[in-house]
Amino acid sequence: MAYQKGSVRLDKAVAAQTQFSRKDVHKMLSRGQILVNGLPVRNFDARVDLSQDEIVVDGQLLALTQYSYLMLHKPRGVVCATADAALPTVLDLVPEELRRSGLAPAGRLDKDTTGFVLLTNDGAFSHRILSPRSHVPKTYLALLDKTPDHSMVEAFAAGVALSPDKHDNLGNGEACPKKIVCMPARLELVEGAPRAARVVIRQGMYHQVKRMFAAFGITVTSLHREQIGGLPLDPSLPEGACRPLSAEEVARIGMESF
Ligand code: URA
Repeated sequence: MAYQKGSVRLDKAVAAQTQFSRKDVHKMLSRGQILVNGLPVRNFDARVDLSQDEIVVDGQLLALTQYSYLMLHKPRGVVCATADAALPTVLDLVPEELRRSGLAPAGRLDKDTTGFVLLTNDGAFSHRILSPRSHVPKTYLALLDKTPDHSMVEAFAAGVALSPDKHDNLGNGEACPKKIVCMPARLELVEGAPRAARVVIRQGMYHQVKRMFAAFGITVTSLHREQIGGLPLDPSLPEGACRPLSAEEVARIGMESF
């Protein structure tokens, strides 16, 4: 059957919502194991409408969500990558039933940073929340080796000048300047905790928060991401655990700007 009604490629949709690779999906299509509205579909470039079509993969009804969005509470010692030869990755923490092809972290936290990591296979969404132009704020709680002073609040708001790092991706192919000036950021001193501060940034430069404090001679001893956009890390989610986000929670990510 040549099924061409919808806007999404059937093979891509099945791979995104199951643990099957695109190659596995093609094999199943050839064997007639994928049914759309009760009929086997065999062509690899068939398209479907996820809002209407009933898709059955190897006898199982496919949950009709186009993309997957997971909140992970990252512990220390885990890397924000899809694969690593030596260390556990954030994907290793995703339980089998939540694994989808194309799932990847939307932005990176350092190995020793804890907190909210968003995992998704929606590349366009990921790009949007990471782009400094979309102004999606990321909120961090930093523990410091010294007490920050009030003058730093203004300095963060004006844009902290950082020494460039070879990992910085300026994205324009230009030679590295002597100093990189960060976009305005918010620094809040934490009442009753003199060596703690909350920082809100909308860029994601390499080691950005640590380097911003280092510009004032302060070392970050511990860093935790508390919130992405308007969505805080679920306080009931233990370290190392992850759970799917509701559509309303996904929308809250993009709702707050800075
Ligand atoms: N800034 C850092 O320095 N490290 C992180 O992991 C995130 C932001």
